[in-house]
Amino acid sequence: MSFPPTPLPNARVYLRRLQPHDAPTFAAYRADPAVARYQSWDTYTLAQATEFVATYGPADIPGPPGTWRQLAIALCVTDGLIGDCALHLIADEPRIAEIGITLSPAYQGQGYAREALRSLLGYCFTELQLHRVYAITDALNLPAARLLESAGMRREGHFRQHVWFKGGWGDEFLYAVLREEWQQVQGSGKLV
Ligand SMILES: CC(C)(COP(=O)(O)OP(=O)(O)OC[C@H]1O[C@@H](n2cnc3c(N)ncnc32)[C@H](O)[C@@H]1OP(=O)(O)O)[C@@H](O)C(=O)NCCC(=O)NCCS
Repeated sequence: MSFPPTPLPNARVYLRRLQPHDAPTFAAYRADPAVARYQSWDTYTLAQATEFVATYGPADIPGPPGTWRQLAIALCVTDGLIGDCALHLIADEPRIAEIGITLSPAYQGQGYAREALRSLLGYCFTELQLHRVYAITDALNLPAARLLESAGMRREGHFRQHVWFKGGWGDEFLYAVLREEWQQVQGSGKLV
């Protein structure tokens, strides 16, 4: 199970490990209120980023079932960090993974997240041979819903007032894709 995966043909971004020099960029985009809005944090400091990158940068990818790992999304041209993906093999069923994705606002709206997500799904299904990948997103997070749908993920659930989140009950969407579905969509050339 090698990481990082081979970049997609003609890709502008690729997935790699977080590295110590990524910490200032990582902290800066995570601290942006628009990025934090639907995430588990409100603020994000350079000290947190430095510790996070030092801890998880060198760690095994994927982590043991039940643990989360964060993969850097980097521009192919500069190797600069523009976001990160999360990968979590489920403790009781490690053939299933939960994923997440965050992009620096400076790089949003250009299709970079879509490329990174396709790369992550390719890694999950081709390299890790996973059976199913899912993502949970706040129902108000429309860019995330659009992104997950663009990658061929299906909305399977709408959980009403499912989490107590930042002072109120929040609805969540569950999106998922099976390996066989992902392979069919890849073969059809429907993804842009
Ligand atoms: C969720 C998130 C990653 C989506 O990022 P994004 O920039 O909207 O997604 P993409 O990079 O795929 O860009 C898609 C947009 O770029 C446009 N675009 C421009 N050039 C493009 C290209 N060459 N290829 C594809 N799309 C392109 C698309 O039309 C689309 O526009 P639309 O949103 O108006 O439909 C981003 O909103 C984010 O980081 N949010 C904060 C963190 C968060 O909440 N994460 C969700 C956790 S699950």
